[in-house]
Amino acid sequence: MEERKDIEKLDDVKVLVDTFYGKVRQDELIGGIFNDIIQDRWPEHLEKMYKFWQTVLLEEHTYSGRPFVPHLKMPIEKEHFDRWLELFFATVDELYLGQKADLAKWQGNRMAEMFLLKIEYFRKNSQQTPLL
Ligand code: HEM
Ligand code: HEM
Repeated sequence: MEERKDIEKLDDVKVLVDTFYGKVRQDELIGGIFNDIIQDRWPEHLEKMYKFWQTVLLEEHTYSGRPFVPHLKMPIEKEHFDRWLELFFATVDELYLGQKADLAKWQGNRMAEMFLLKIEYFRKNSQQTPLL
């Protein structure tokens, strides 16, 4: 009785993003960080994240930007990325099954690892460098 299908179209991406940030906003560890920064701009943030994941998963290039830069000054450590990943993986797995679902988890994990490495690098080398 397997009901889950794969991520196939933009509507699937929207359901993934809406469900994920629904969990994020209520999370006791990371919810406050998001809500403090985003405040009343959640509709815009969700629109941007639909485009980000549409670009990554469906190869429909609607997002352009610099995903890392806004995270540089956030109060985030390994434990926050671990929670982000836990919620993201749980959301993907509860909704979808297949190659794109696997790709979403793979790319989310890569991005979280890269963000954390870069944040730690910038903290150690307090001045700005071309790694941005
Ligand atoms: C070593 C790993 C990575 C490096 C060094 C890197 C670097 C960058 C840089 C510098 C940009 C901005 C480009 C610009 O300024 O025009 C960018 C954009 C982007 N990155 Fe990455 N990235 C990495 C991994 C990832 C991963 C894992 C994902 C997917 C989850 C990803 C998705 C994107 C997307 C969607 C854009 C926007 C593309 C565009 O504007 O056309 N990147 N990346
Ligand atoms: C605990 C970890 C994280 C926190 C607290 C966090 C928080 C945020 C917040 C608050 C924003 C909105 C910034 C603003 O508009 O003022 C944002 C933007 C964004 N986040 Fe994260 N994030 C985290 C991890 C990730 C990961 C792992 C990814 C990628 C898979 C990601 C992808 C993005 C992208 C693409 C944007 C939009 C950047 C732009 O303006 O173009 N974030 N994040």
